[in-house]
Amino acid sequence: MIPIQPTPIVEWQLPGDVRLLVKRDDLTHPHVSGNKWRKLKYNLEAARQTGFAGLLTFGGAFSNHLSATAAAGQLLGWRTIGMVRGEEHLPLNPTLSFARSCGMEFHYLDRSTYPQRCKGIGMDAWEKDYYILPEGGSNTLALKGCAELAEECQEQLGAWPDYVCVAAGTGGTAAGLITGLPDQTQLLAFPVLKGNFMRGEIQYFLAQAGHENKKNWQVISDYHFGGYAHFDEQLIDFINQTKGRYDIPLDPIYTGKLFFGVADLHEKGFFPSGSTVLVIHTGGLQGIAGFNQRFPNLIRE
Ligand SMILES: Cc1ncc(COP(=O)(O)O)c(C=O)c1O
Repeated sequence: MIPIQPTPIVEWQLPGDVRLLVKRDDLTHPHVSGNKWRKLKYNLEAARQTGFAGLLTFGGAFSNHLSATAAAGQLLGWRTIGMVRGEEHLPLNPTLSFARSCGMEFHYLDRSTYPQRCKGIGMDAWEKDYYILPEGGSNTLALKGCAELAEECQEQLGAWPDYVCVAAGTGGTAAGLITGLPDQTQLLAFPVLKGNFMRGEIQYFLAQAGHENKKNWQVISDYHFGGYAHFDEQLIDFINQTKGRYDIPLDPIYTGKLFFGVADLHEKGFFPSGSTVLVIHTGGLQGIAGFNQRFPNLIRE
């Protein structure tokens, strides 16, 4: 529906005898990138088949998912509605300003109404006309798109890696990858939120997709930096160095934490020598502009 080519896999040459590779899925499309495209793909097909007037989804004011949904809607000529958590702040931040430029209509929901609408309560009037994507875009069709990402990597490498590492917010991307990986490949999910709910979330998505018996995964909870959107100087330095040395741009919310975590585990000898570790770059780079607006010029673009 949107022409997307397979994205490259590049070497990430850290010292040591582990082969570190990066799936540059941030390069799928300038505005529908990374896991967003993988999650949207089969949902867009379902929306088209059922003939909905447009897409409706949910997210915070800096949401990569809102931004990507708005861009996909514009590319396909569909209406899009964003249910935004919290109050309207003007001028719009770069994420919402971009989504608006793609034609997305916003409805702001206060912090108690928002979770209810996400659960479908009070959504009857919208459900007739709009294909409703959950917050973060994670559902069973999204998992199917993420499983395809795993297969694409195998085809490109000609073999399965020993480890696949991915950042986790809702856990949908990690779950989708797990369903696409063979048992000998271990999926490591790096939550960017504080708390110990990620195992349960991933298990829930796996069960929904009929893969509740998969055991080839674990959650690595040590790299959330204090929680969603929290960061410190070490993380920012790491992001700037990775861009400077390896030409890999990272965002401070998701991929920065993931790559930091993988590099740290590697340094501590977590990965057996001779193993191949594939790190999935899930995009999210649109968030850098809004981050730099709040914290001027911390991240080099
Ligand atoms: C750039 C990026 N990477 C990773 C994630 C995590 O994906 P998931 O919510 O499927 O765990 C998200 C969104 O949540 C994201 O925007």
